Amino acid sequence: MITPVHEAARDTVDVGAAAGVYPVFVGPDLLEHLPVVLSTYAPTRRVAVISDDEVGPIHGASVATTLADSGHDVTVLTFPAGEASKTRTSWSILTDGMLEAGLGRDCVVVAVGGGVTTDLAGFVAATYLRGVPIVHVPTSTLAMIDASVGGKTGVDVHAGKNLVGAFHAPRAVVADTTVLATLERARRAEGLVEAVKHGAIRDEAHFGLVVERAESLIAAEPMACAEVVAASVRLKAEVVAQDEFEEGVRQILNFGHTIGHAIEAAADYRIGHGRAVACGMIAEARLGEGLGVTEAGTAACLIEALAPLTVRGEVDLDPTKARDFLGADKKSRDGQARYVLLRRIGEVARDDGWTHEIDDEAAHAALEAVVRGW
Ligand SMILES: NC(=O)c1ccc[n+]([C@@H]2O[C@H](COP(=O)([O-])OP(=O)(O)OC[C@H]3O[C@@H](n4cnc5c(N)ncnc54)[C@H](O)[C@@H]3O)[C@@H](O)[C@H]2O)c1
Ligand SMILES: [Zn+2]
Repeated sequence: MITPVHEAARDTVDVGAAAGVYPVFVGPDLLEHLPVVLSTYAPTRRVAVISDDEVGPIHGASVATTLADSGHDVTVLTFPAGEASKTRTSWSILTDGMLEAGLGRDCVVVAVGGGVTTDLAGFVAATYLRGVPIVHVPTSTLAMIDASVGGKTGVDVHAGKNLVGAFHAPRAVVADTTVLATLERARRAEGLVEAVKHGAIRDEAHFGLVVERAESLIAAEPMACAEVVAASVRLKAEVVAQDEFEEGVRQILNFGHTIGHAIEAAADYRIGHGRAVACGMIAEARLGEGLGVTEAGTAACLIEALAPLTVRGEVDLDPTKARDFLGADKKSRDGQARYVLLRRIGEVARDDGWTHEIDDEAAHAALEAVVRGW
């Protein structure tokens, strides 16, 4: 069915999921079309708009007004901005808030915010009254390119990031690239690290596009952002549609993340995810080159692509913690961390499955080298 939002969007990417295909609308000025999105993909009168307290006053409020003006009964719920809020405590405060508002199984959650909001509100929707529909309105580059697509939701717990959660695919995603103008420049740039990753694992041309457009993307030029967000979402969607529950090929999306997560955790999350994953991709490319699996020069290409997007200097972290976290990675099998390695830019190297076993000492050495700066 073609709706006005299909016509307004620069691109629509359909994502296959067990629960049904859902559209990701990408382009400037799409928020005004939210009432049509809801009436088409999650028809109901009762809406819970969830955002953090930074995005809430800017974009959450305008979404709530747009929906109320179109006859929806809107409950607005906010939580303090930041990764520290992605917890079971926030989950219980939000679900209690929804219960107090008397929201029943006929409600829909609209998540307006960055990846913390889409992950947390997604987990709320996955569990509230055993599951209610959700529509994502991602407002950060990271959430548009990555977090709002694929149905992974969850919270962080003491033992690690994202360890408690659920798969819960959205009914629709509305990525309005105009809203990126209010996002801090450095965050906008860092979110693009995942676009570099999508190119590195699947599509050399996309990798080249991110490099070529870096300046306009960092400047939040809405059309340039729409072009790259849509292309990146398409690449993620192809992978997710083949393996929604991460039993096989979806693991390639973890390129750079085995070492990246260990760096992030060992730095006590004082550095951004994008910066940690940039370090992780470079380190894992160097490991692959050392093993003769990855084409020589790949790490250098990554460095060229990543340099405009994030900080290259030394990362302040606890090396002992980094060692411990490498082993604790969720992708470990029998306690042995697994690594996605590239064959070259645009292609992953297969081994026994999609990941490779790498000697712990070599991995630690690569981590320690990359955190000294690159
Ligand atoms: N579910 C997944 O598949 C998936 C994938 C990648 C990342 N993630 C998760 O995403 C999270 C990181 O996402 P993030 O970087 O967007 O963090 P975030 O949600 O904390 O947003 C970063 C900051 O930017 C602010 N912000 C967001 N959009 C804004 C806008 N348009 N204008 C002004 N301020 C704005 C937020 O209030 C916040 O302070 C992590 O928790 C990570 O685990 C999930
Ligand atoms: Zn990531």
